Amino acid sequence: MHESPLTFFKEPLRSASLVDRFDRQLNYLRISVTDRCNMRCDYCRPAADAYQAEPRSQLLSFAEIERIVRVAARLGVNKLRITGGEPLVRKGLSELIASLARIEGISDIAMTSNATLLFKEAKALVDAGLHRVNISLDSLNPLHFRTLTGAELSPVLAGIQAAKEAGLTPIKLNTVLMRGINDDEVASLIDFAVAHDATIRFIELMPMKQGMDWDKHYISIEDILQREDVQQRVQVDAPLLTSNTAARYLPLKEGKGSVGFIMPMSSRFCDGCNRLRLTSDGGLRSCLPADEQLNLRDLMRRGGTDKAIADVFLRSAMLKPEIGVYDFSSDNEKRSMIHIGG
Ligand code: GTP
Ligand code: 5AD
Ligand code: SF4
Repeated sequence: MHESPLTFFKEPLRSASLVDRFDRQLNYLRISVTDRCNMRCDYCRPAADAYQAEPRSQLLSFAEIERIVRVAARLGVNKLRITGGEPLVRKGLSELIASLARIEGISDIAMTSNATLLFKEAKALVDAGLHRVNISLDSLNPLHFRTLTGAELSPVLAGIQAAKEAGLTPIKLNTVLMRGINDDEVASLIDFAVAHDATIRFIELMPMKQGMDWDKHYISIEDILQREDVQQRVQVDAPLLTSNTAARYLPLKEGKGSVGFIMPMSSRFCDGCNRLRLTSDGGLRSCLPADEQLNLRDLMRRGGTDKAIADVFLRSAMLKPEIGVYDFSSDNEKRSMIHIGG
């Protein structure tokens, strides 16, 4: 049995640790720095007319984010991922990263980005202390890419190149699979990743609050692995290699390297989950698909102490479910990836 948060805080902060009810150590905090994005992917945000970005005053300031991370680091968080919306649309992001990199105990800072602004920013991000970047890439066909995202493909390709040159490696590419939209591009995306020395991960479409019909476009990884052009490239009969993140990997047939699969719908990977999520408006969320989140922004703006912030982290850990459940009927507006950061 774990002690209650209150018992924990008879001890100095440093001795408390974020372990949930299922003995999972939560050492990975995903931080969404904005709910704005310069793309319009239907799988990520509520339908265009239903989507309203939060007023800027509602977003956490950099000082507030830094304070939260200081407390989290004292509770054992050592890995951070900066997400969005698109994190690079938030001005001055390198300054935030530099301040987070200076926090004792933080050993890994990564970012998930659509890469459109990376060609300008990659070097400054590295200088600030960013280690790695995961990049969304859902199509290599410029016309399909524009239909899907509302944006051009070429700045993304330039961003991937810039990330490589700046040393933001290993680069992981994320492709959300959508039946009838990009499921015919799996083989060419694998070839692209190999040619660019990146690892690609294919992600099953999750039913969040989004502008896309999940029933129509969901396709399982199992179905993808039946395809002949995929079987020509991937050792589909090899055992899936696990990792300490959500992805499972299969080796490529030729050359070194592997292909990743993130299967939130068809196969559970919650056993080893080590994540908490901070939304751009200061919500602390213990599980991607669960709607409960605790509000750190209001606590801080009411003058809450570091100990009170730590207590919210411990409560969030206690709320973390054993497995994430997708409630298809939820109409919670905040249940979109653009709010939560993936
Ligand atoms: P690495 O540490 O580099 O492996 O990163 P990551 O896979 O944790 O981060 P990334 O932002 O690239 O994750 C890609 C996508 O995988 C997310 O946006 C989600 O769509 C999905 N994903 C990541 N973590 C989880 C998780 O805990 N639960 C669920 N359901 N999906 C997740
Ligand atoms: N299902 C699966 N993955 C999604 N992402 C965004 N929305 C969805 C969804 N509905 C992924 C994007 C990006 C990351 C931040 O989240 O591919 O890589
Ligand atoms: Fe962790 Fe929830 Fe994702 Fe499962 S669904 S891996 S518990 S965040």
